[in-house]
Amino acid sequence: MKLTDEQRRILDGARGPFLAKCIRWLVEWGDAMGARRLVPVANTHALVTVPGNLVYGAGEKPLQAAMELLRSACREKVCCLSTAHITFAHQDQYDEIEMPPEQVAAQQEVMQLASEAGFLMTYTCAPYLVGNVPLKGEICAWTESSAVVYANSILGARTTRHGTESAIAAALTGWVPEFGVLLDENRRATLQVDVAAKLSSPTDWGALGYFTGQVAGLEVPVFAAAPRPSQEDAKQLCAALASGGGVTMCHIAGVTPEAPALEDALAAESPARRVTFADQQLRHTYRSLRTHSGEEIDTVILGCPHASLEEIAQIAGYLQGKHIADGVTLWVCTAYSTRAAAQRMGYAATIERAGGYLFCDTCPTNSMRVKAKRIVTPGFKQAHYARGMIGAEVIVDHQEGCLNAALTGRWTDGR
Ligand code: F3S
Repeated sequence: MKLTDEQRRILDGARGPFLAKCIRWLVEWGDAMGARRLVPVANTHALVTVPGNLVYGAGEKPLQAAMELLRSACREKVCCLSTAHITFAHQDQYDEIEMPPEQVAAQQEVMQLASEAGFLMTYTCAPYLVGNVPLKGEICAWTESSAVVYANSILGARTTRHGTESAIAAALTGWVPEFGVLLDENRRATLQVDVAAKLSSPTDWGALGYFTGQVAGLEVPVFAAAPRPSQEDAKQLCAALASGGGVTMCHIAGVTPEAPALEDALAAESPARRVTFADQQLRHTYRSLRTHSGEEIDTVILGCPHASLEEIAQIAGYLQGKHIADGVTLWVCTAYSTRAAAQRMGYAATIERAGGYLFCDTCPTNSMRVKAKRIVTPGFKQAHYARGMIGAEVIVDHQEGCLNAALTGRWTDGR
């Protein structure tokens, strides 16, 4: 990879050992991916917390190594807009999930350091809902695969899928290796998905994404004949594309900023592959994430990716004057700032009166503090990961179906 004089000087240690390490990470990653240079980055979304798997069961050494990385990183300052991905829980919710003291201490130290380094304390998997909304063509370095797909496909920004080290390195140095969807030629769609099924809820869009992710793998799909999605539809689509497969971006003809028409997404070439998503595929995709062996449920998880204020308003409207069933926990996951707005609007009080819980800065699966046997959720991504990370049975249904299950303690297929 060809470096500028400034990049070379930093690599040689002119700005200290940690930034030299950051440039080395970026160069080694770029070399492996065939990048020819490092380009300026304007916007990052980074995981500046200690991962749960290091706190629970991995032992003292990996936890100390992660803390050392974050302490070193946070002695520097970010050099572009940088928001923070999720953490474990907001500090006023530690008791709810019985966070162990060593995790509380580690989290509080890292939060303080990250804020001093200039990371904005958004703590969300949906930064585009809380003020990090990059413009078309803006070079970004985002962690959180669902947000990466959203940034590329809905906002027209450009980001590859980042990990903890690379996003922190980008935030502190201001550069990223140029490869993948940062380049025009890699944004062209190669898989055409003809949407014949009727999509009547955000979760139906999630089914489209989950199906397509499995077919596409790492390809760039384009959706032809799809209706215009709402923000919630797009959120579910992008999250499911990234969990069903390894998709980094998609096009929705007429919606994606660089694809006003199908031909633009395909760059006037024929797609290498073409598949149809009809009612049969829709039904099959739902069935693939309904692993339950009975009707009784104990957990409902809404807000994956984090709920918007509009979604919380809908949930509050549905729960007004009702109460969830004994033995059921209802989690509504959202960003702290969205929860603050929901509190001001009275939605939070309505949900809490009904027995639900607005959980912010994280989600139950990632906080790894949930004991659930059977989960109902409208998020294909939540169901996909909850199976492995919590080991629970899962049922995907649209939001109304999930809320009905929360109220009755049982899930039956309403459709
Ligand atoms: Fe966010 Fe948790 Fe889903 S981090 S994307 S709510 S699995």
